[in-house]
Amino acid sequence: MATFTSIPDGEKPSISVHPANKIAKINDNIYGGFTEHMGRCIYGGIYDPGNPLSDENGFRKDVIEAFQELKVPVVRYPGGNFVATYDWRDGIGPRDQRPARPELAWIGTETNEFGTDEFMKWCEVVGTEPYLCLNFGTGTLAEALGWLEYCNSDRDSYYANLRRKNGREKPYNVKYWALGNECWGPWQVEQMTKEDYAKKAWQWAKALKLLDPTITLILCGETGTSSWDYYVLNKCVKWSVHGLSGDTTKSFIDMHSIHIYTADNEHLPNATAPRAAERAIQMTSALIDLARIENKVPETVPRPTICFDEWNVWDPVRAPGEEGAEEKYTLSDALAVAVFLNGFIRQAKDMGMANIAQSVNVISPLMTSKDGLIKQTIWWPLLLFSKYMRGHTIAINVKSPEYTGRTNPSWIRGTIETPYLDACAVAGEDGWLNLAVTNVSEERDFEVDLSGLKADKVEVHTVTGEHVQVTNTAEDQQVGIQESEWDGKGTYTFPKHSFTLLRWKAI
Ligand code: AHR
Repeated sequence: MATFTSIPDGEKPSISVHPANKIAKINDNIYGGFTEHMGRCIYGGIYDPGNPLSDENGFRKDVIEAFQELKVPVVRYPGGNFVATYDWRDGIGPRDQRPARPELAWIGTETNEFGTDEFMKWCEVVGTEPYLCLNFGTGTLAEALGWLEYCNSDRDSYYANLRRKNGREKPYNVKYWALGNECWGPWQVEQMTKEDYAKKAWQWAKALKLLDPTITLILCGETGTSSWDYYVLNKCVKWSVHGLSGDTTKSFIDMHSIHIYTADNEHLPNATAPRAAERAIQMTSALIDLARIENKVPETVPRPTICFDEWNVWDPVRAPGEEGAEEKYTLSDALAVAVFLNGFIRQAKDMGMANIAQSVNVISPLMTSKDGLIKQTIWWPLLLFSKYMRGHTIAINVKSPEYTGRTNPSWIRGTIETPYLDACAVAGEDGWLNLAVTNVSEERDFEVDLSGLKADKVEVHTVTGEHVQVTNTAEDQQVGIQESEWDGKGTYTFPKHSFTLLRWKAI
């Protein structure tokens, strides 16, 4: 457990770390990415043929290296909202025969130059797993089954043979499949009621699992805090009572997806906004339990985990989707990203996957130009988490003063605390212990009692900048990682507006 005690100003903050108390195994997939046919994410992002920075497939090598540095385990594709009018069959086969189509999510034209086989190839080059989202807008179940067959089947059947004809003998074995994207949203082509969605998701799930029982199916939730989440979970969990073809150790629905973007123009509401995401995880977890209890689901039927498959800082007014959503991230946003990730680690027991939205150019840590790559402020905490915060969440107790001002959303206040020092800790499989601390205060350095640490020598990685509004540009990298060492004794001072990762070898 991570416990938090709010203390008055003037009292010394403290953090105690309890490596022997392992809370949960962290699923590496919480460091997942997301690439949508939107703005410059695919075209000009991961795929930029003719650019000297690209390989023979047209894939940007600098982007591939960044994904590898980040060790991104899984990447969601092809949307997002884009998927609601996407026909996967347009994006396969000889390029000169692929049709260009109107695209209705971001109001553009999709050339289909990049499609399923290109994405699979790109995943193989990067060393990541694909996660495909099915079209619940204009798409039919027959098309979805065709896509699954194309990707995963080794039968002598039409779509499996089409894949072979297109140059790929072996199935891709795509494990993760989403049952639509944000089907509740008024912006969706074929927005649905929760009743219609639950029925459709269930029927599709049944057919998809009949074709390939090994896949992991992800239900389309909302924010985890809505009646949509309650309803679709309750119905689909209920219909899972008898398991998969009578086998109650297998389920039709494996994960429940939620999405939250946060943003505020003022620093503290911005940096504390991702506390809503942690509360949403807790609420979704409760809804999963409730669905199982209300429907008397046998314990043997696996409990769905949470797939937080879109999260990040994004203000769609500041960076409209139709204009490519190229957010310029500040240090304040980097601290918000660290608070999101702290929450994922603390709630690891429920987290099956999380995907930062998105991974390149569109609301992204990475920005390409014709001649290089910019690592935005939010890249740096993400990199430290993805590199080091793997293994088990371990117990900590934090005493810190609390921010008590306005929050965004306002319901954070009264449902979850907003400490100035937001922390989590991880025991790695390599014997290293990691303590991540985000000091969201704009003004105060905090001297923190860490006397129980039991460390000889501590590696310190600090992400900060001159003030909370600094950004990174091609010419000027204001935010990066500063590395130093600490003797691990007594008090450590966490500087104002910083993210700090302390790492030491367990003794
Ligand atoms: O990530 C950008 C968009 O945000 C996605 O397409 C959609 O699912 C969400 O509304």
